[in-house]
Amino acid sequence: MRVLLAGGAGFIGSHTAVALIEAGHDVVIVDNYSNSSEEAVRRVGQLTNTEVTHYEADVKDVDALNKIFDENKIDCVIHFAGLKAVGESVQKPIEYYRNNIDTTLALLEVMRSHNVKNIVFSSSATVYGSENKSPLTEDCKKGTCTNPYGWTKWMMEQILTDATVPDQDLSVILLRYFNPIGAHPSGLIGEDPQGIPNNLMPYVTQVAVGRREKLTVFGGDYPTPDGTCLRDYIHVMDLADGHVKAVEYAASRKGTDIINLGTGHPYSVLDIVHTFEEVNNMKLNYEIGPRRAGDLPELYSSAQKAKDVLGWEAKRDLADMCRDSWNFQKKNPQGYKK
Ligand code: NAD
Ligand code: WQD
Repeated sequence: MRVLLAGGAGFIGSHTAVALIEAGHDVVIVDNYSNSSEEAVRRVGQLTNTEVTHYEADVKDVDALNKIFDENKIDCVIHFAGLKAVGESVQKPIEYYRNNIDTTLALLEVMRSHNVKNIVFSSSATVYGSENKSPLTEDCKKGTCTNPYGWTKWMMEQILTDATVPDQDLSVILLRYFNPIGAHPSGLIGEDPQGIPNNLMPYVTQVAVGRREKLTVFGGDYPTPDGTCLRDYIHVMDLADGHVKAVEYAASRKGTDIINLGTGHPYSVLDIVHTFEEVNNMKLNYEIGPRRAGDLPELYSSAQKAKDVLGWEAKRDLADMCRDSWNFQKKNPQGYKK
């Protein structure tokens, strides 16, 4: 299949591009590099020994998309293109709603005019809200989000689902990711956030490489075994493999389906810190600080449906995630910047 990756130069998109090419698919990457670098695309080419077709374009731009769809016969779209920083979304709600919703609408319009019937969407465990109890299954009711980022995912799931009503040939797969970390084992591609990282693992690796002085563990008094929050961390290479299965599944069916991509195993913040120290043979400078507003004590998936429906399950463990995250950061101390 020829798969268009909207936002394909980003963290998850670049790893998925490698996995798709290795599985024998063609990819077309469209990205405006608002949170990524063309260098990531170049390295996808290097890793796969291919010329990767790519366009610098805004996915909100229907004219630009029309041209790309005219030039490439697309079988499936994966929609990664979104703004994703929870805290920033509270400060910039209009930018978040505009970017995330408009990219989705533009893709659906251009898919319709080009008769493209398959779309896989990057949703998030954030849509479960705080009302549901882990392990989270896909049939839990969507919850109340606490920030505009979460609401954009909630709304985009609804928009995509509604689009399957008038077009009964449309296939929509909503993938709800848990906490993706890790990097390609080569250390050539990985996570490269701009500015101060919001997420745990990039903060840890930037402390390890000396770009930040100290990690603050947000809260040590949660009702969990070691007092720190539990999350479902998943290796980005496993996530990438899940997308290959999802694209193939999308093409085999019609209508909407929802699938969690997680490992089903909860790990604490201190599990991450200590595993990182152990596998990379180093000490991390950290302290236990106050809780961060909005964090839930535990959030992890039931990974059963992905196994049943996609025949996919995560293979890499926490040690692999910590080793590969550090390998990328060590080899690219300033990320993709020279
Ligand atoms: P990322 O920021 O690395 O990748 C997103 C890519 O989309 C970037 O390359 C960015 O430049 C591009 N982009 C954004 N708006 C665009 C636009 N209007 N036009 C063209 N390109 C645009 O993020 P990621 O971690 O790879 O996440 C990919 C998707 O998965 C996002 O939609 C995110 O919300 C979702 N998601 C991520 C996580 C996570 O923890 N990383 C968890 C759940 C869901
Ligand atoms: C993980 C744990 C923090 C930073 C977010 C989004 C979610 C999804 C994934 C997109 C928590 C703790 C963190 C630090 C810390 N993204 N932490 N010190 O909050 O589970 O999920 O990313 O859809 O929607 O909300 O991930 O990496 O921010 O935090 O102690 O400096 O690490 O409190 O327990 P989170 P995270």
